[in-house]
Amino acid sequence: MKKVLVLNGPNLNLLGTREPALYGSTSLADVEALCRAAGERLGYEVECFQSNWEGALIDKIHEYGRLFKQGLALGCVFNPSAFTHTSVALQDAIKGVDGLPVIECHISNVHAREAFRNHSYISPAAAGIVVGFGVPGYVIALEGLARKHDPDNPRLP
Ligand code: DQA
Repeated sequence: MKKVLVLNGPNLNLLGTREPALYGSTSLADVEALCRAAGERLGYEVECFQSNWEGALIDKIHEYGRLFKQGLALGCVFNPSAFTHTSVALQDAIKGVDGLPVIECHISNVHAREAFRNHSYISPAAAGIVVGFGVPGYVIALEGLARKHDPDNPRLP
């Protein structure tokens, strides 16, 4: 069973209580449970990881780059949160592992918000982007990853 990484960046550990008008009232644990259930339906083992530290996110991308090369991972759904708008290092990490498909996912519509959120350093390295669907966007991103990178998966809806 291939692995899929659901990776969340800074402040997303506060999901559920953090600015609920923007990000909803679902906790990160519930988001992760939704992703694991979606993974199970599609026949993948979902690993969830959240960190407030850029380097920890980079290390996780490197780890999955290696798993991808070994044929053990399909890809990654990544909400880089504020690092989206600041991190050259995360773009370099995705490009650097060379191959790991990363679906960028944002709960809110970053293009309808402050100007500094309109630019993403991650998008040029992303295999796809899901923006503004709320928490269900994570499941949409997972299914999108499967559709694009495992199109013959008989479990696809
Ligand atoms: C976010 C959008 C980012 O601009 C913000 O910094 C976040 C969450 C989203 O999911 O909508 O922390 O990535």
